[in-house]
Amino acid sequence: MLTNKNLQLNSLGKLQHFLSIEGLQKSLLTEILDTAESFADMSEQQVKKFPLLRGKTIVNLFFENSTRTRATFELAAIRLSADILSMNIATSATSKGESLLDTIRNLEAMQVDMFVVRHSLSGAAHFIAEHAAPHISVINAGDGQHEHPTQAMLDMFTIRRAKKKFSGLRVAIVGDILHSRVARSQIHALNILGAEEVRVIAPKTLLPAQVESLGVTVYHDLTAGLKNIDVIIMLRLQKERMNSALLPSESEYFKCFGLSDDKLKTANKDAIVMHPGPINRGVEISSSVADGPQSVILQQVTNGIAVRMAVMSMAMQSNARGD
Ligand code: NCD
Repeated sequence: MLTNKNLQLNSLGKLQHFLSIEGLQKSLLTEILDTAESFADMSEQQVKKFPLLRGKTIVNLFFENSTRTRATFELAAIRLSADILSMNIATSATSKGESLLDTIRNLEAMQVDMFVVRHSLSGAAHFIAEHAAPHISVINAGDGQHEHPTQAMLDMFTIRRAKKKFSGLRVAIVGDILHSRVARSQIHALNILGAEEVRVIAPKTLLPAQVESLGVTVYHDLTAGLKNIDVIIMLRLQKERMNSALLPSESEYFKCFGLSDDKLKTANKDAIVMHPGPINRGVEISSSVADGPQSVILQQVTNGIAVRMAVMSMAMQSNARGD
């Protein structure tokens, strides 16, 4: 069987699909960040459109809800001059019993060049990449509880812009780590890029078994965990993925693990506060912190466009027919 790494990279070691962060080299992650940096600069100009993917057809295949991710993938494709079709899977033939592979075969017959896939099953994007025609690139926009690599890269981009480098950085990821594909991708990215320390702060019920093996230190107390921290990443409680009561109540959760102004003071003075969204005010984060001077939550959204432009253009260039 092909490994993730082999499947994502072409024979020249270039990004052909973007399925997971795990197993990628630091140089490739840095190339994504540097490419995104040039798109971010260009996006600040009045004309935001570049002809790089002119004539290419991209299909957004979202089997799960999304606001930010879907919209920023669409805008990224439009700004690269590609044509993009966003499929509403709830009203597609999948609900009539068509298999995932049949859906893919039908879209391939319409001569598409790239699939951006969000699916509730871990491994769905890998499966599509393995079975799609060789000229098609597949980008994982979140698969179950596995990975969400473009979210992690836009987070790394936001961190690098604020803090300049990864060495010496202490990062805390707080909340529902168990159900978070974002956290998994972030942990891999931070370790590959050379962060000093990655902490996870959560109740025991919201941590995966053997989480330390991912390269993190574990805290169950927010105040202790935020000491000396440069970057705080808050996560939403993913109640839609919880099949049993893992928590007493939302107000109890906020008291112990919610980020309030008081708790924020425990971290370094210049710490930044991040959240992949959607945020639940008063559950994992107070409004005053979410809207406060240390929050970079909306910058993350803006940066998502440049990072997705980078990943899409890199994958499409490595996957040009005849490469
Ligand atoms: C996340 C996701 O869907 O994994 N959101 C996102 O992509 N911005 C996190 C979440 O749903 O809480």
